[in-house]
This record gives sequence, structure tokens and C-alpha cells, in this order.
Amino acid sequence: MHRILLAALAAVLVSAPARAQQDSVVRGEQDFRACAACHSLEPDRNMTGPSLANLWGRNAGSLPSFDRYSDALKASGIIWDDRSLDAWLTDPERMVPDNAMPFEGIKDARTRADLLAFLKEATKPGAAPRQMAQGRGGMMGGGMMGGMMGGGRVPNLKNLDPPQHVTSITHCRDTYRVTTADGKTRAFWERNLRIKTDSSKDGPESGAPAIVPAGMMGDRADVIFAGPEEISKMIEPRC
Ligand code: HEC
Repeated sequence: MHRILLAALAAVLVSAPARAQQDSVVRGEQDFRACAACHSLEPDRNMTGPSLANLWGRNAGSLPSFDRYSDALKASGIIWDDRSLDAWLTDPERMVPDNAMPFEGIKDARTRADLLAFLKEATKPGAAPRQMAQGRGGMMGGGMMGGMMGGGRVPNLKNLDPPQHVTSITHCRDTYRVTTADGKTRAFWERNLRIKTDSSKDGPESGAPAIVPAGMMGDRADVIFAGPEEISKMIEPRC
């Protein structure tokens, strides 16, 4: 009887901290949604902000593949670790005045601790393949949003379905008419159609721009080209 009790007690003592740590990582993964619109966890997949892969031990503002660091962050001399990241996430502007991260900070210490517990796992070298697998699963299951959750995946535009593949665009007065490979043409008020480029490996093939819905109402969309030189070539002034 005694031995069973002792064994049970030992099991609780060993597993409770491990379980608390695991719970923290799970909560942190939810909290990472506040970051995922701007940061991926895959090496060198940069979005509004730099990839966070391999973050611990890295000098602030030093990822060679990210071109948009502020001078302030580059000159900060910070090395990212538990302490410096906690200060950064508390109040980025206070830690590095004039930095370029549009984020007001997380005031709750437990939320920061959860987020850092998750990030420390998810940014380790070799952690990315798990994230990629999640991203793909999400995209297949739940469309674009599912893909975005798993560490900030954007949909790949290389192999377009006909309704996404733009074949021609005309412009007349205040209206763009966008025709896709399924033969359909949709009209947009010119202020509701955004023209973008994506030259990364996720971007469309040259000459095959993609149309992607934007916003909730269905009246807005993005047309994404492989590069800026294609844009005015494709848009034909015609009424
Ligand atoms: C709206 C976009 C945006 C959001 C949201 C955002 N970030 Fe950032 N983040 C950036 C940008 C842009 C930079 C580069 C800042 C600079 O150069 O001054 C950056 C920089 C960083 C850096 C420094 C990386 C390096 O290479 O030095 C870390 C760490 C970071 N962000 C973590 C986070 C975390 C964690 C969250 C969520 C709590 C978050 N960010 C939310 C855009 C964002």
C-alpha cells in the first residue's frame, strides 16, 4: 500500500512540472496568433517582419535575408535570449525607440512567458518541418486561414486553379474587369482592387498572375503578379 502511494506521489511530482510546461507551450501557440500575420517560423520565410526561426542567440536586426530592418534595431546591440525577448515583447518601443515593429506590446507577464515557451520550442533548428506540415494540412482542410495559423503560411500561388488564374484585365473609367481562366469576368471599383507582387518561391509564375479575395464583403481582391514589369503590360485600357 505504502509503495503504491509513494509511486503515485513520485509520478505526480515528476509529471506536474512537465505538464505545466506543456500547457504553457500550448497556450503560447495560441498567443502566437498575434504575431503570425507578420512572422513565420520557417527559416528565411520573411513577411512584414523577419522569420523567427533560430531566434535564440541571434543578434537583433541581423537576418541576412530580411531587407527591411530599422536602423534602430540594427544598431541596438541586443542578442535575443529569454530576458531580452521578454523586454522586447513587453514594450518594443521602450526597449528600442524608433524600431519598425507595429506592435504595442504584451503587458501580461504570464502571456509573455507562455509565448516565449512556445517560441523557444518552435524556433529551434529543425523545428520548422513540423510547422510546414501543419501549414499544408491547414491549407488543405480550411483554406487560406488554416494555412496562415501554422506559423504564418501564405498560400502558394505557383499552381493556380482556373478561378484564381488571371488571364486578362481591362481598365475603363473607375472600373477594372478581371477575367480568369474559368472564363468568368468580375468588375471592381478601382479603389477596391489592389495590385501586388510576390517574387518569392510562393509567388505566381511569370505571366500567370493570381486573384485572391481580400476583406469580408467580397467586393475587394488582390491581384498578385510575379514582378512589377508585368503589371501595366497586362492591364489594357478598354471600355
Ligand atoms: C504588424 C506586424 C508585426 C507584428 C504583429 C509583430 N511583429 Fe515582430 N517585427 C515586425 C517587424 C517589421 C520587425 C522588424 C523591426 C525593426 O527592424 O525595427 C519585427 C521584429 C521582431 C523581432 C526581432 C527579430 C530580429 O531578427 O531581430 C522579434 C523577436 C519579433 N519581431 C517578435 C514578434 C513577436 C513574438 C510578435 C507577437 C507577439 C511580433 N513580433 C508581432 C513586425 C511585426
